[in-house]
Amino acid sequence: MSIVLSEKESLFTLYTKTSMYQMKVDDYGVLLHTYYGKKTENFDYSYLIQRRDHGFSGNPYQAGNDRTYSLDTLPQEYSCFGSGDYRQSALSVKYQTGAMALELRYKDYEIQKGKYKIPGLPALYAMEENQADTLVITMKDDVEDVCVKLYYGVLEDLDVITRTVCVENRGSAPVFLERAMSLCLDRSYGSYDWITFYGKHEMERQLSRTSVHHGCQTVGSLRGASSHQYNPFVILADTGASETQGECYGFSLLYSGNFLAEAEMDQFNQTRVIMGIHPENFSYKLEPGESFWTPEAAMVYSDAGFEKMSHIYHRAIRSNLCRGRFKHARRPVLMNNWEGTYFDFTGEKLLDMAEKAADLGIELFVMDDGWFGKRDTDSSGLGDWHVNEKKLGCTLTELSDKIHEMGMKFGIWYEPEGISEDSGLYREHPDWVLHVPGRRPMRGRYQLVLDFSREDVRNYIFDQMCKVLDHVKVDYLKWDFNRSISDVYSSRLPAERQGEVPHRYVLGLYEFLERLGRRYPDMLIEGCSGGGGRFDAGMLYYTPQIWCSDDTDAIERLEIQYGTSFCYPVSTMGAHVSACPNHQTGRTTPLKTRAVVAMAGTFGYELDPGKLSEEEKEEVRKQITAFKKYYELIQEGDYFRLTDPARDEHYAAWEFADQEGKEALLSVVASKVRTNDPPSRVLLRGLREDAVYEMNGKEYLGGALMHGGFPLPEASEEYQSWMFHFQIKEK
Ligand code: DGJ
Repeated sequence: MSIVLSEKESLFTLYTKTSMYQMKVDDYGVLLHTYYGKKTENFDYSYLIQRRDHGFSGNPYQAGNDRTYSLDTLPQEYSCFGSGDYRQSALSVKYQTGAMALELRYKDYEIQKGKYKIPGLPALYAMEENQADTLVITMKDDVEDVCVKLYYGVLEDLDVITRTVCVENRGSAPVFLERAMSLCLDRSYGSYDWITFYGKHEMERQLSRTSVHHGCQTVGSLRGASSHQYNPFVILADTGASETQGECYGFSLLYSGNFLAEAEMDQFNQTRVIMGIHPENFSYKLEPGESFWTPEAAMVYSDAGFEKMSHIYHRAIRSNLCRGRFKHARRPVLMNNWEGTYFDFTGEKLLDMAEKAADLGIELFVMDDGWFGKRDTDSSGLGDWHVNEKKLGCTLTELSDKIHEMGMKFGIWYEPEGISEDSGLYREHPDWVLHVPGRRPMRGRYQLVLDFSREDVRNYIFDQMCKVLDHVKVDYLKWDFNRSISDVYSSRLPAERQGEVPHRYVLGLYEFLERLGRRYPDMLIEGCSGGGGRFDAGMLYYTPQIWCSDDTDAIERLEIQYGTSFCYPVSTMGAHVSACPNHQTGRTTPLKTRAVVAMAGTFGYELDPGKLSEEEKEEVRKQITAFKKYYELIQEGDYFRLTDPARDEHYAAWEFADQEGKEALLSVVASKVRTNDPPSRVLLRGLREDAVYEMNGKEYLGGALMHGGFPLPEASEEYQSWMFHFQIKEK
């Protein structure tokens, strides 16, 4: 049983395969957090809570003159603003009177079979009812009729606990949510590191590790999308935690809009983590009877370092978050024309590229930006989703049919949320863009943003897309979004609801994607926002893969894909081989290395195949064959980070091993070549200690490869790479 209730102690204990999470209702009805860590026998961990008389930490009236009882110091399950807790709170509510007090007290609980769902928001799901249990704890403020339901999804075998919160206004006057976070986690003891993933356009998800110190350490986004700059995934780790050792906690927010993740060390060295929708520019009016759901947060505890945590996330995302036909089905090896042509193409040029691509073994040909409206540069045409037949020199059906006749699938690019001022749509509906009355909106990549919080706007764009997708055979769609959101104001909402716009926008985006996926279930949708500007677990519910970065340079990708892998599996990371010198960095890397790096992703090409030499073409054919051969291992196996490419100067190495340890694929890139280098080795992982593995005619003991290591070859050219396949020797 994954949820155990000890009525007498009012103790709630949640069990996953290796972790345990516990809460306790105290004498005043406050829900305290007592434990989250390694699984033990059920035991009341509240003995760890020490109460002392601390100055300037006030005492609730209920506690009488007990000066040791203060919500300012106790570990709380879901802290509220205005309750005497001066740390960062999870929930803040304002009433019509302007008052902001909220004192939540335990009312009751319910245990449900299966995993809860959240209306309009993504959530991990159970494959079958008995894969998950749900605990709902109801809390209430005794003065105002505000009711808060804390939901816990326990996916025992997956080793994941999810959380969401539903706030209900059961009173007779409206209330305003000023902050409604998805999770709050208090740690009374321990010193921690705060690991976050920062970045920028063309260099996303770089790992940052700092110690948690007094005050608040925060990351977040106010860009309307989860952003290139900070990812909605963070780790709280023991200061000594490494890839394979030490305790750590992962927190992933399944949300694609503004977010905040915060670690606060308080006056008594206690650490609180909160995560959820960013409270800046957020408020939500709840009329009597209305409720608000926070996005889901997925928590993973690991007692064996980051690798175990990542493996848990990877499996959960692959099997219990991604949906649809392409969840596990082999995704086609694609060629995208973007870096091959940019806007400069015709139908004839594309068909020529496609013919050459088919000859190489490419399975899906993708026509990127520039096929619609007046779109020869990025300054016009967005919003006019009708095919530019003049530019193509044919209809889209003809193009698609010809590509299918070549034995390939066909895909196209869209940016449904974007609009150019130089477009028919803008001229007709200038009021459909997000803009603040009386001000000119900020431009980004020359374009503006459609108000996706509005149903009529979404419906129009949806219909425009259907006019194309209903009639042309489109097997793949790339959903792009190329700017940060600004001028957040919706002409459809009254003044007191403007703080709802960023969240309503995200709900609108999800509603659209859900509808699109249902209408075209056989179409593979790849997410994208100028590369990885919206690479989050929320989007992965709708799009099983996301273009990882607009930076296709193989050496830079080592770091980008490394950082991304802490939460997200390889099967979600769009990665392509592009031409050299690389268009972003000017660097030249061997074709083999570009493929080795792109194979740690969904794998495809983004170049003009007409510019490849015969020798290169032959190499590409072999790469595609190799990728198909190792597909299962790469996409469904466990991924091991053997080096940190940002710190290890000479080699970057990673490994895929099937979950039974029968085979492994080791990839190595010489990221910096030096003369007279000392010998290097890597320690493999995920193998069987006593099994013998064969690789290139040689035999190795699993234990030897894992503890003695595998010697790395000396590089004879810059950025050289290798792949080594180890196969268990059947006895
Ligand atoms: C940004 C994407 O990340 C690129 O791959 C490409 O699709 C361009 N947009 C097209 O405008």
